[in-house]
Amino acid sequence: MYNQSDFNIDDEMIDELRDLGYELNDYSLSDSDFRDLDFDGYSTEDSGMILDVPYVPSDEKIVHSLLNLAEVTSEDTLYDLGCGDGRILVAAALERNAHGVGIDIDPMRINEAIEYAGHTGVEHLVHFAEADLMEVDISAATVVTLYLLDIINIKLRPRLLDELLPGTRIVSHAFNMGDWKPDQQQRCGSINLYKWIIPAKVTGIWEWQATNGDTYRVSLQQKYQYVTGTAWINGQAASLKNALLRGDLLELTVQADNSRPIRFLMRCQAKQLVAAEGDLQATPAVKIS
Ligand SMILES: C[S@@+](CC[C@H](N)C(=O)[O-])C[C@H]1O[C@@H](n2cnc3c(N)ncnc32)[C@H](O)[C@@H]1O
Repeated sequence: MYNQSDFNIDDEMIDELRDLGYELNDYSLSDSDFRDLDFDGYSTEDSGMILDVPYVPSDEKIVHSLLNLAEVTSEDTLYDLGCGDGRILVAAALERNAHGVGIDIDPMRINEAIEYAGHTGVEHLVHFAEADLMEVDISAATVVTLYLLDIINIKLRPRLLDELLPGTRIVSHAFNMGDWKPDQQQRCGSINLYKWIIPAKVTGIWEWQATNGDTYRVSLQQKYQYVTGTAWINGQAASLKNALLRGDLLELTVQADNSRPIRFLMRCQAKQLVAAEGDLQATPAVKIS
């Protein structure tokens, strides 16, 4: 059986975990979120390995729901962090021709995954490596799949936000990301599935010219995908009616007194905000601080 001491639980996360309803002293795999876990006799004591999460495979229905939720196509490279027997990546390769990289710390799982990929004939699309998911380079992923624990998702969160490109999708079986709310959530039977889209970093003061000659300036603050701020037109305070960020797309609606609101749709590109739609924006928005 697994004990709390088998897991790398970091004391710094206590507050956030309490917000999630966990009592660390009681933290155990009998929590209701783990009701579907089947330990299958597997024990860390046999191998001396420290797992962050025990091995429990996602069932077929969940695998398909995760791939649908992430909208996986043949253009994607999936990273399954804690890949188990590789079933998510093999399904993505078989059904969608997607590339996959599976990481697991347990060599037994990696052997199973390589064997499974060979049996199903998708070994040219998938690669499996024995490594610690906390340390592996994930920057090439366009989709990340997780069946870990809230606590591990939260520990991974800064790396996901910093190292993945804006627009990368993350889907998680059963476990959330603390105060980073999902962009989408759905049920699969009694299980919650979550999806996040990595937001571009837009905090700062930005300025651009409109095609009518007006100079727009916005000061933006950001927490995850949520953006707030203030706006000016030609140096006069205006109202930032709307600021929506989804991946690398930022929609800003600015309104001066007694004027109609003007909506800009911009794409974050090479440290600029480039017009992504319409003909109202004459120059890319550049950061002035
Ligand atoms: C709940 S299973 C999920 C398996 C697979 N992703 C699925 O959904 O079918 C979690 C997996 O994470 C692996 N794991 C645990 N700690 C890990 C770590 N630090 N680095 C890499 N893999 C880890 C376990 O060996 C296990 O296979």
